[in-house]
Amino acid sequence: MPRQRRRALLLAAAIISAGIPNAVLAQIRYDPQSKIFRLSGGRSEYDFGIDEQGYLRPVYWGSQLDPTAPLSIPALPPSKPPVLASMEPSSSVTAQEYPGQGGGIVTEPGIKIAFPDGNRDLVLKYRSHKIFGDTLTIELADISRPLTVTLRYTVDPVTGIIGRSAEAHNRGTVPVRIDQIAAATMTLPYEPDYRLAYLAGRWLGEFGLQQQPVGPALTILESRRGSTSNHMAPWFAIDRAGTTGEESGPVWFGTLAWSGSWRISVGADVLGRVRIAGGYNPYDFRWQLRAGESLDTPIFYIGYSDDGMGGASRLQHRFQIARILPGNGRPKLRPVLYNSWEATEFAVDENGQAALAEKAARIGVERFVMDDGWFGKRDDDHAGLGDWTPSKSKFPNGLGPLISKVHKLGMEFGLWVEPEMVNPNSDLYRAHPDWVMNFAGRPRTESRNQLILNLARTDVRDHILKALDDLLTTNDIQYLKWDNNRNFTEPGWPEQTAEDQQRLYVEYTRNLYYILAELKKRHPEVEIESCSSGGGRVDLGIMRYTNQVWTSDNTDAFDRLIIQDGFTHAFTPAVMMAWTTDTPNFATGRSADLTYRFLSAMQGGLGVGNNLNKWSDQDFATATRMIADYKTIRATIQTGSLYRLARPDSSRPTSDTLYVANDKKQAVLFHMLQNYRARDNLPAIQLPGLDPDRRYKVRVLGGGDLPPGVPAVAAGSWWMSQGVVLPLSSDFKGIGLVLEE
Ligand code: DGJ
Repeated sequence: MPRQRRRALLLAAAIISAGIPNAVLAQIRYDPQSKIFRLSGGRSEYDFGIDEQGYLRPVYWGSQLDPTAPLSIPALPPSKPPVLASMEPSSSVTAQEYPGQGGGIVTEPGIKIAFPDGNRDLVLKYRSHKIFGDTLTIELADISRPLTVTLRYTVDPVTGIIGRSAEAHNRGTVPVRIDQIAAATMTLPYEPDYRLAYLAGRWLGEFGLQQQPVGPALTILESRRGSTSNHMAPWFAIDRAGTTGEESGPVWFGTLAWSGSWRISVGADVLGRVRIAGGYNPYDFRWQLRAGESLDTPIFYIGYSDDGMGGASRLQHRFQIARILPGNGRPKLRPVLYNSWEATEFAVDENGQAALAEKAARIGVERFVMDDGWFGKRDDDHAGLGDWTPSKSKFPNGLGPLISKVHKLGMEFGLWVEPEMVNPNSDLYRAHPDWVMNFAGRPRTESRNQLILNLARTDVRDHILKALDDLLTTNDIQYLKWDNNRNFTEPGWPEQTAEDQQRLYVEYTRNLYYILAELKKRHPEVEIESCSSGGGRVDLGIMRYTNQVWTSDNTDAFDRLIIQDGFTHAFTPAVMMAWTTDTPNFATGRSADLTYRFLSAMQGGLGVGNNLNKWSDQDFATATRMIADYKTIRATIQTGSLYRLARPDSSRPTSDTLYVANDKKQAVLFHMLQNYRARDNLPAIQLPGLDPDRRYKVRVLGGGDLPPGVPAVAAGSWWMSQGVVLPLSSDFKGIGLVLEE
């Protein structure tokens, strides 16, 4: 069979198994007659074209159209009736695919520059394009000056998600200052009821789903902190308030693959068209682009679903698993881990950790992780960061004996590190006080008693890489929890020229990726978790190099359902780690039984963070059962299709989440009670996504009798239309049902 045909068949099989019916393969077509580019993949399509004046103009973004449908570049807004007047010259109301700031643009530009002679007028027009497989590149050039921008579009055939980025090239002989550069800008035609969704929060409360109408006021989603941030995630979704529901209606979404300062802006222009731009945050940004140099942006992944927020989430999950996570489309399933941070904090030592490891092994833990406190003079958060050698008092014989013990118990060994940071009270800082970000002669603001190493410097980058490489070479470690507990202040780089100092924002993140990539290359078996005081560094940039993320430091099982609900709008449960911990919870004071805590933590990658020294026999028995059962469902949880049947907001009595395996042979329902009132009648829960013609038998997760009225076996169609009624006795109780063919 010819190679191309074989590839097409393989892709078709992938699309069908991904549960995306009626999809066609990715296609990038250019019609020289209409001068329109049509990018299609999965069930969506994104079109733009070249107008008579050579501007690149948006045409269409939505569900796939008939390929023969005639498309045209939208006409320029009419001057009659006279709605536009002289205040809006046609250049300011002509939506462009990627505008330079110049020629009358008053909306967010793709790129804003300044030449040394003070000229700040950049007018970009089409020059050429290339189509290569699933990728289209377009070169835009200024109308007179030697500055060009390459736009890149890569279409994922299965989900239709398009990776967009831009690269500016200085083809002249003098430097050009870039003040702002987006990866992509998009336009949606006027509709009266667009609604923006985004994820915002803070430490202990990341990923809160916010929704607001899209209007003329520009909404800025951003991080100015040098890192992704606990405050906002680099993600947006726009739906139609009148039409879109959880499982139906249009949703346009996008997410930036960048772990430094980022910005996404959304707002309607004077004609009500919605303009979206995303890329490097222009706040404190400046890049002196020397003659012959180029500057590349991160990738903005954009997509469209007809199947509501649920459909949009599932597309993103599928895409991240197939295209972003390490593992070439087949990321390893998350092992069950144990971490004693909440139980012991910094009080780790060989005997204490060994005792916990024995108990963890008994309940079926697969990876034992030692958190903060094992190195240098680290007895609390005042000292030691930067000195990545085992504490002599806590580990007199190094880490070797503990690691062998953990391995003998049949578990992998993992270790906590925070490589980008330094305590002033450390040998590293005493030797290299100049290695931290700072403005010469100015105060260095400490947060959690630590400063940030200036990773933009290559000597600092190489030092960190060596320290971690040594650690992994001398010890048999399978996993690093890479923490990052503060954001930028005084982002100075005194060794650089004034013009180049602000490169720090980009170079820092690039070097972070460099270290992660290099460690993966040198130690391919080592897995890494991205942690940043909880979920402060979760984005598709870092997810390329890390196998899992720490979702939040808030381990309260109910709060966590809300955090996980927001998280899964944008990110796959395949990376979303959660631990059971002790009650009352340290953050909320709330208590819940251990089964509820397990059912909450099992909805992503499962971890245990309890003080096992305090557990009763019954706790050990519950944990052993739940962990054993988790291993039978984790593939479905981590790589299946997620349905949010009832979201865990506190106005509803229950939270119901369903995960269905890709082959539909298994489904897992989590039913959790949170705000029950005696007058509430709990409705039957219908289970979508099953195969109506197969028969499914059901069991209770972790064992136990089926609730009355739930049949032991029934056809998929029964579960889908009749559903199950699951009575529970009180708040913060839950039940999990596993359906199997
Ligand atoms: C913040 C992390 O989010 C916690 O899980 C823990 O690792 C601490 N840092 C350790 O300092």
